[in-house]
Amino acid sequence: MAKSRVQFICQNCGTVHTRWAGKCDSCGEWNTLIEEGTAGGIGAGPAGLRSARKGRPVTLTTLSGDIEDAPRIASGISELDRATGGGFVRGSALLVGGDPGIGKSTLLMQAAAALARLGHRIVYVSGEEAVAQVRLRAQRLGAASAPVELAAETNVEDILATISEGRRPDLVILDSIQTLWTDIADSAPGTVTQVRAAAQAIIRYAKSTGAAVVLVGHVTKEGQIAGPRVVEHMVDAVLYFEGEGGHHYRILRTVKNRFGPTDEIGVFEMSDRGLREVSNPSELFLGERHAAAPGAAVFAGMEGTRPVLVEIQALVASSPLGTPRRAVVGWDSARLSMVLAVLEAHCGVRFATHDVYLNVAGGYRITEPAADVAVAAALVSSLTGLALPADCVYFGEISLSGAVRPVAHALQRLKEAEKLGFAQAVLPRSTDELAGGSGASTFQPAMLADLVARIAGSRLRRVED
Ligand code: TYD
Ligand code: MG
Repeated sequence: MAKSRVQFICQNCGTVHTRWAGKCDSCGEWNTLIEEGTAGGIGAGPAGLRSARKGRPVTLTTLSGDIEDAPRIASGISELDRATGGGFVRGSALLVGGDPGIGKSTLLMQAAAALARLGHRIVYVSGEEAVAQVRLRAQRLGAASAPVELAAETNVEDILATISEGRRPDLVILDSIQTLWTDIADSAPGTVTQVRAAAQAIIRYAKSTGAAVVLVGHVTKEGQIAGPRVVEHMVDAVLYFEGEGGHHYRILRTVKNRFGPTDEIGVFEMSDRGLREVSNPSELFLGERHAAAPGAAVFAGMEGTRPVLVEIQALVASSPLGTPRRAVVGWDSARLSMVLAVLEAHCGVRFATHDVYLNVAGGYRITEPAADVAVAAALVSSLTGLALPADCVYFGEISLSGAVRPVAHALQRLKEAEKLGFAQAVLPRSTDELAGGSGASTFQPAMLADLVARIAGSRLRRVED
């Protein structure tokens, strides 16, 4: 038996330290070092550093061989299948992360019920809720009659022994990874060592049997899956389930996928009977739109293969502060600073004495630089008090020189806008894929200053009319 040594493991990045410190010198996080036993520590291998045993030969095989089943099992919940890239992959491990209470258990219970009704063997293991609680939820979701096999258990060895009995399950759902513990690691559940060892055992099970495994992971307030940063590297795919507190819709976002695209999202709406699929997100994000007011611009964005229209709202107000406020919800604040700087330097628009607030409607989060032009339009509109045309969409990237740069999928964005009744569009030049194009009347500025002049000029045009 190896001598047990005390060591301190950073719960954020998994680095092993020999003594405690307030700050992890590897990732720079504070107060993340926790004392754990050596066995199963990061880098120690599954059972610690015992004396090396003699290896046993494994059978080598060929690339072309029989694959017994269809490689994927699709749930029929199309927004979920879209995010996973066409269904759960057999023999793979998927991590579903999200804030507590966002609806992970609800989504997976619905998926489990749908798959069980299709004749798959589905095992749902809850480590957080008692059987009665899970049943209660299943009743609310109208899933109680589905033949899902349910257990409330947290010990990995017991779980593996249970699911190894009888027919191999098609899908095993473990809710959540933070509650699991294995005999081979001697720290508390939820610590990096336990989470990692438990995940390792379960992933090994998935690979060796061909069952698909879903692990649920809670996210800390910093937005990382607590502890299991390490787990993200181990699993085949990572999905985040996100949404804003006051809003009832939820987005399932792919951040890693070894078997599919990583830029897809699935959109759901939380109702009193569980999650409902939203197949046309644009209608949802534009749903609460009122008649044109200054500071609002509609951005024609893309999420993976799907166009999404969303309203960007800006409020520019004169500031009593020496250093005016810049607050952003749903977009990158560094990107906002850049757009403000370009507007000041190249378009003569001054924000130095103004507070700037930027909000993406509906609590949606934009990651595309293509939103630059829409943001700039909203800012200028709010500053000048001139409302933008209500039937106009905006997209395009802005470079530091003040030029409007082309972005991908221009035609698809225009088509979606047209479908939703937008007759005008502001977009970059030189998008030759527009040939054959759309019916929308377009304005294609080469420089951002051209767009600013057009917005400012709308006051003159209105006077002339
Ligand atoms: P849950 O799936 O338990 O969240 P997680 O597993 O991510 O912690 O979802 C909990 C929330 O969802 C809870 O606040 C209630 C809400 N909810 C509904 O609004 N409708 C429903 O039908 C269900 C089952 C939950
Ligand atoms: Mg839950």
